[in-house]
Amino acid sequence: MFRDNFLWGGAIAAHQVEGSYDQDGKGLSVSDVMTSGAHGVPRRITDGVIPGENYPNHGAIDHYRRYEEDISLFAEMGFKALRISIDWSRIYPNGDDMAPNERGLAHYDNVFDCMLKHGIEPVVTLQHFEIPLHLAEEYGGWANRALIDMFERYATTCFERFRDKVRYWMTFNEINNQFNTKNDLYGWTNSGVRFSQHPDPERLMYQAAHYQFVASARAVSAAHRIDPDIKVGCMVAATPVYPASCHPEDMLLSLDAMHETLFFTDVQCNGAYPSYARRHFERCGWTLDITEEDLRELRLGTVDYLGFSYYYSSVIDHAAHIELGDEITRSDSRMVDNPFVPETAWDWRIDPEGLRTTLKIFDERYRLPQFIVECGVGLVEELNESATVEDDERIEYLRAHIEQASCAVEMDGVDLMGFLVWGCIDPVSFTTGEMRKRYGLIYVDVNDDGSGTGDRFKKKSFQWYRRVIESNGGVLA
Ligand code: BG6
Repeated sequence: MFRDNFLWGGAIAAHQVEGSYDQDGKGLSVSDVMTSGAHGVPRRITDGVIPGENYPNHGAIDHYRRYEEDISLFAEMGFKALRISIDWSRIYPNGDDMAPNERGLAHYDNVFDCMLKHGIEPVVTLQHFEIPLHLAEEYGGWANRALIDMFERYATTCFERFRDKVRYWMTFNEINNQFNTKNDLYGWTNSGVRFSQHPDPERLMYQAAHYQFVASARAVSAAHRIDPDIKVGCMVAATPVYPASCHPEDMLLSLDAMHETLFFTDVQCNGAYPSYARRHFERCGWTLDITEEDLRELRLGTVDYLGFSYYYSSVIDHAAHIELGDEITRSDSRMVDNPFVPETAWDWRIDPEGLRTTLKIFDERYRLPQFIVECGVGLVEELNESATVEDDERIEYLRAHIEQASCAVEMDGVDLMGFLVWGCIDPVSFTTGEMRKRYGLIYVDVNDDGSGTGDRFKKKSFQWYRRVIESNGGVLA
């Protein structure tokens, strides 16, 4: 059974729901120059905002102005927690500004007040796929050490301003996405860098990640200084990688492929670089900019909990070589399909047991509290004549994943803080920029071209999730 104060709820991110991309003093962020795409059609990164292009997050679902309505719907479902992100470019429009933008801070004050009024605990990510565009253009993004100080300033501003309202924070969303250097989307949104324009993308990735590790550790230390009760977590996209067969090489490969997730959690949870990473740097002949002082800061700023998203597992086959093409969720050409699990229309593998496997791996490696801060499924959906969506597929997806989380708690002894449904209200998809890929328990009448009334409608899963929360996960049918 889940603990009494289990944090049931949902998760959204600023750039995927807010809209109002140029309001109240906000600067441009890297997400503001990403066009829409589709399954197999990559999103493009444009040089600035170009008239005539479709930038889905400019309007998104207008949550920036409709947050009260949305939060009261979440409250009706019984949410105990809501994960949002603060858009850095609303607080420091250029990133290198010396003073914060008061209108940006005031907006999030209002949002947190509204959550607290409804008894909903805010869970807040500081960087969820957006940094001020100016930092990418003028500084080269996280490839530049200068960003550490700027992030620390931004994080400290937020901790101080919201210390009485927000207890749970995360520093970088899915910090490990950038491990996939084959696709510019990830380097751009994680770090404001374009791997395709760099001679040695892998080295650049490790360097950018290092500066983020130091920035994150500093943020943890700053938060604890400001208020020892604040809890700061890391956040990774967790993907267990299975060996395709019992061939010994597949097993060894799968262990290495797991580093795509574990390298990041190893540094952030243990506060030190793992030996396999040091070896890798040596083998590649890299001398990364990692100072003794950085290593000290990493040791001091280990995270309080491990936050992660879980969507799917992967399979690796030493003998395979598939063309990656526009495939953006697989970083290695030896990643193959799994004949034992179904896939969504976007080829995302549905594997609930993979969630339990993930929880077990993390628990045995770190013995830290864990928080499932994203889990959900993107489906093609339309309103029916009763103005709802019979999303039985989503209910089944969530039911099966919650059941596996419960097994991890009850049978494996995992310390689990909460479960948040990704995109609890239909957001703009991150990888494709589509509205068509819907995740919500609440349907939003916005289409890919931005048309639609913007009205909100409860899907069948809305009432189902209300019962799940009410019963603390006891009633999943
Ligand atoms: C995670 C992100 O990658 O998965 C979210 O943290 C994202 O921002 C979610 O939306 C689902 O991905 P997508 O591409 O289907 O929206």
